[in-house]
Amino acid sequence: PLSTPSTPPKSNTTDKYAFAFDIDGVLIRGGRPIPEAIEAMKVLNGQNVYGVKIPYIFVTNGGGKTEQERCIQLSKQMEIEVSPGQFICGHTPMREMAAKYGTVLVVGGEGEKCRQVAEGYGFKDVVTPGDIIKDNPDTTPFRKLTKEEYDSSRARDFSKTEIEAIFVFADSRDWAGDQQIILDLLLSKRGVLGTRSETFDDGPPVFFSHNDVVWSASHDLTRLGMGALRLSLEAMYKAVTGKELNTTAYGKPQIGTFQFATRLLQQWRKDTHGIDAPPETVYFVGDTPESDIRGTNDFNKTSENTWYSILVRTGVYEQGTKPKFEPKFTADHVLEAVLHGVEREQR
Ligand code: G3P
Ligand code: MG
Repeated sequence: PLSTPSTPPKSNTTDKYAFAFDIDGVLIRGGRPIPEAIEAMKVLNGQNVYGVKIPYIFVTNGGGKTEQERCIQLSKQMEIEVSPGQFICGHTPMREMAAKYGTVLVVGGEGEKCRQVAEGYGFKDVVTPGDIIKDNPDTTPFRKLTKEEYDSSRARDFSKTEIEAIFVFADSRDWAGDQQIILDLLLSKRGVLGTRSETFDDGPPVFFSHNDVVWSASHDLTRLGMGALRLSLEAMYKAVTGKELNTTAYGKPQIGTFQFATRLLQQWRKDTHGIDAPPETVYFVGDTPESDIRGTNDFNKTSENTWYSILVRTGVYEQGTKPKFEPKFTADHVLEAVLHGVEREQR
């Protein structure tokens, strides 16, 4: 041949390592970016002394909106382009449950958003607490639907509906009302509202998208999260029935979430960077020892890849205390965490 085929220019994206980030308390606080986070994203995108680009994904326990919507928001906040292909929130793995259940109750979040998320996952028949209150306002003596809620809620005859499972997708905006409705279902005969089981053991299962008792929002001190609702519900159930309530939580620190994240990262590296082998190291940067550090460390024990935990001081973890779960490294903020990983790789 007259000419040899030209080889594509060598990419300066590293195939050796990658980053995964928690969001609240690491990149964002109360809807506002943590300034060092924007700088950290620049470092990942090649603005570092080595000129190397580093693949990354996001793994948050938060939720309440579609992945698409959350990515648009995060893109603006971090001044980068974030794709749903590199993003997992607490309820993302719940989509695998869509085929298993018929009618489900979805709890939490703003307005109709979580219903839309669940329907987007393929859940066939999604009921919200608003639907139940619209059908029977006596359900929640102290909660009245606003006009907007009333208009968007879908009333039906719940005495003829079997609710097969309960999913808490995002933080409840009305603990009293939502807990009343969940409790009614747990005490019912096979999820039919208005009935009472004699044994209290044929109610629907309850799934939470995560188990964070506290999280880092705009207030200086941590705020109650979904894990607190879970504790409250379990205590209430025990007080009413004398029995233990077993519920299931998704999200970090569950191993399943890290397995899901590993698959996502693999696909992301392949599709976007043409890398078809697992990274040697995944640096996970989080602020909550109980979720982020615990999960990373536990997963590291089971996986062939090395997940490396980094704890930052910008969120739930309080400076000066000993974290319940020991990270491999502690940084003041996410920029220091990223630079630590990059330097460690160049050694
Ligand atoms: O509700 C969200 C919160 O509990 C944690 O979010 O990003 O810190 O995992 P994140
Ligand atoms: Mg966090």
